[in-house]
Amino acid sequence: MTPPRRRAADGAVPVGYHDPVARQAGTTHAGIVLAAGSGTRVGNSRNKVYLPLAGRRIVTWSLELFRRIPGVGRLVLVVRDADRELAAEILDRELPGVAVDLVTGGETRHESEYRALLHLADEIRDGEIDVVLVHDAARPLAPVKIVEEVLGTAIRTGSAIPALPLDDVVGVDEAGRMSDAGRTDLVRVQTPQAFKSGPLLTAYQAAAVDGFTGTDTAACVERYEGVPVQVVSGDPRNIKVTYADDLFTAELILATSGYEL
Ligand code: CTP
Ligand code: MG
Repeated sequence: MTPPRRRAADGAVPVGYHDPVARQAGTTHAGIVLAAGSGTRVGNSRNKVYLPLAGRRIVTWSLELFRRIPGVGRLVLVVRDADRELAAEILDRELPGVAVDLVTGGETRHESEYRALLHLADEIRDGEIDVVLVHDAARPLAPVKIVEEVLGTAIRTGSAIPALPLDDVVGVDEAGRMSDAGRTDLVRVQTPQAFKSGPLLTAYQAAAVDGFTGTDTAACVERYEGVPVQVVSGDPRNIKVTYADDLFTAELILATSGYEL
């Protein structure tokens, strides 16, 4: 079934981010929001991304975030078939007039991403989409600054992921003793992750041939493109809603940030 196409909103709100190269070349960037999980660990009968957070549904926060980034002219929301009607209803109510393509996801996050990329494949091959941002709807609090940073870095280097240092990790040797030998710095990875669209699509097509399933977008790109993925600073407020408690934390973060991230 062809996904419904919604009308485009006029103009994004300027946030100090400029991408003259893409604009001159007549290309745009795409924002993919992944919402095709089932949200089992939150424990609600409904998929967590449709629960309310500070007056709007969780999924709306991420779409609204991308909508505010100049240069992001294409939005895709990946949903389960069972949630499609609810998702469409929420978009109509909370983002009226914003163009969002609904795409049916797959069994895994990786498969959901692949389906979104296949949906954009023609535009990617035609050079109409420069960078693709992939974001978990389960992270409704990603600040604008992170999107600008990953997007700007991906335009320059080909890829970027936000991450936070893991400062409570130690190495342990075979004898069970603390050891820093051979240690490399570990980080905790967040989304949105940004990649040049061509290599990203190629990586996912290669993964499909192999039957490889990555834990996140960067894992797949690194494996098949063989180029290092650039890490930029994440934000501790950019939490993932996984358990019910995270909903309270998210409300608190928003309240203390004045509902502006
Ligand atoms: N996701 C997806 N398609 C899947 C699985 C996950 O689009 N088949 C999305 C989720 O909707 C979420 C993100 O990937 O936005 C991260 O996944 P996670 O936090 O694990 O969400 P769920 O899989 O929905 O939750 P749970 O693991 O608790 O069931
Ligand atoms: Mg999951």
